[in-house]
Amino acid sequence: MHPLASELNEQIESQSSSTYALLSGRGRELYFPRGILWQTAEANEKAHLYNATIGEATEGPEPMVLDSLVSHLNTIAPADAVRYAPAAGKMELRKAWREKLLRDNPSLSQRVFGMPIVTSGITHGLSLVGDLFVEEGDRVLLPDKLWGNYRLTYEVRLGAVVETFEAYAGSGFNVVGLARALRSGPDKTLLLLNFPNNPTGYTPTRREVEGIVEAVVAAAESGKRLLVVCDDAYFGLVFSDDAMAESAFGLLANIHRNVCAIKLDGATKELFAWGLRCGFLTFGPPSCDAPDTILRALEQKIVGAIRGGISNCSHLSQSLVLSALENDAIAEERAEKYEILKARAAKVAEVVARDTYADSWDVYPFNSGYFMCLRVKGVDAEQLRVHLLDNYGVGLISLGEHDVRVAFSCLECEQIEPLFDLVHRGIQELRA
Ligand SMILES: Cc1ncc(COP(=O)(O)O)c(C=O)c1O
Repeated sequence: MHPLASELNEQIESQSSSTYALLSGRGRELYFPRGILWQTAEANEKAHLYNATIGEATEGPEPMVLDSLVSHLNTIAPADAVRYAPAAGKMELRKAWREKLLRDNPSLSQRVFGMPIVTSGITHGLSLVGDLFVEEGDRVLLPDKLWGNYRLTYEVRLGAVVETFEAYAGSGFNVVGLARALRSGPDKTLLLLNFPNNPTGYTPTRREVEGIVEAVVAAAESGKRLLVVCDDAYFGLVFSDDAMAESAFGLLANIHRNVCAIKLDGATKELFAWGLRCGFLTFGPPSCDAPDTILRALEQKIVGAIRGGISNCSHLSQSLVLSALENDAIAEERAEKYEILKARAAKVAEVVARDTYADSWDVYPFNSGYFMCLRVKGVDAEQLRVHLLDNYGVGLISLGEHDVRVAFSCLECEQIEPLFDLVHRGIQELRA
């Protein structure tokens, strides 16, 4: 093992033996080498006369730049587009995102949490979590309504064992099922929470989130070591006053010495910038004496994994996101888009609950995000999907035998009623 990795491991273990035990073999080996990037960072601070460390071409103080490449980016300085960004991301952007986290999540003002680390989208954040913490055979626990890509990330790529529990109990989140699954499992579990949920569009109430936290603490008290990952991809798109607007991360950070929390989020859905590939990974350390020590060590490991995997994330994307965050108009622009999505969700809720459809489907509770799910009756979900596509040109996602996912994020309000009418008709046709 590299001495730098050992040093980071000692720092993590000195603060939280439970977080140390959560690390995968790969996670223990990870460190951020004192190589070119480290030396460049030092030189950037200290090399006032000549700085010959940067692996870039420069002209005077500016990077060498091709006009044809940057002329249309008239508000982003070339240097903020073509230069390498630091492996952990642009510091101004990381600070701006941290401030946003504090504004959006009042509970975080009482907690210790790290400086967000820039990832190439949230999927990259999930994969980095895997690098640090997931060993072959480890358990990844999720509600049974889940984004299928988690299986690819953890089961297929890393050999983890994905276990699920029923997502709903009646019309709410199945806190009891979660508590049971945590209690009965192995000593180490990665719990993955995704609210607003893909595919169901459900966000729990504050009381339910408090129940989740109680279940986590009870398991931790009994000696389980937990890594709780909050995939907050759809953060901010909560359409009902009952659903908890802030992230569960704010209640989970520092909650117990055996619980390490991670928040994954990003510009992808929150700023409607899917292709920019700009996400963030933020640690909420366990309760320990010197959380800054463990935060620094974990960050070095993540940055080592970024450096060894993709080197760094797109600087242009980071600059675009930063300039958006610094723009006073952004709050109003986001509010406008939020209202559009909220109106669609309300329309969907009204239409799908109509008596005429009671014989065709049950509706999984939803109150947020991009999606909702139907549990269709008397037909196979995949058959229905193909039937609707072939006969009516209607595209839905089938999930398992019974469920179909409808993305109201990409439906105009006036398309909602005709769409569900066709789904109903398709079900009747297949049954006949
Ligand atoms: C729950 C969830 N997490 C993460 C992602 C992926 O985000 P990104 O495009 O930033 O990788 C998605 C995208 O569909 C998602 O639904």
